[in-house]
Amino acid sequence: MEEGYTRLCLLRELTEGKGKRIYIDEHPVAVFLFSGKVYVTDNICPHQHANILHEGFLEQGHVVCPAHGWSFSLETGNQPGGRWGITSYPVLIRDGVVYTKFAHRKFDW
Ligand code: FES
Repeated sequence: MEEGYTRLCLLRELTEGKGKRIYIDEHPVAVFLFSGKVYVTDNICPHQHANILHEGFLEQGHVVCPAHGWSFSLETGNQPGGRWGITSYPVLIRDGVVYTKFAHRKFDW
């Protein structure tokens, strides 16, 4: 396994078009399966700091926060037309296991 990657879950535990919340230490990340590809992002929405992006709707490569509809790219974490973003982490899949390269960081809000 490449250095710095953390085991998250089995690939078969993910459901197409849905997210799953997993904690790395105390930091929640969202793991999504969208169009057959796995994405890992922060799970806390920067709008009201809600820990709910894993329950978001997936459309056109974006996760839409279920609380008030802010949207973030699964690939980059960027908010289209907005100044807030989340982090999208590198993903590795080996032998049916999903890993991510997670970087601890402090939120600046
Ligand atoms: S908490 Fe996500 S859009 Fe408001």
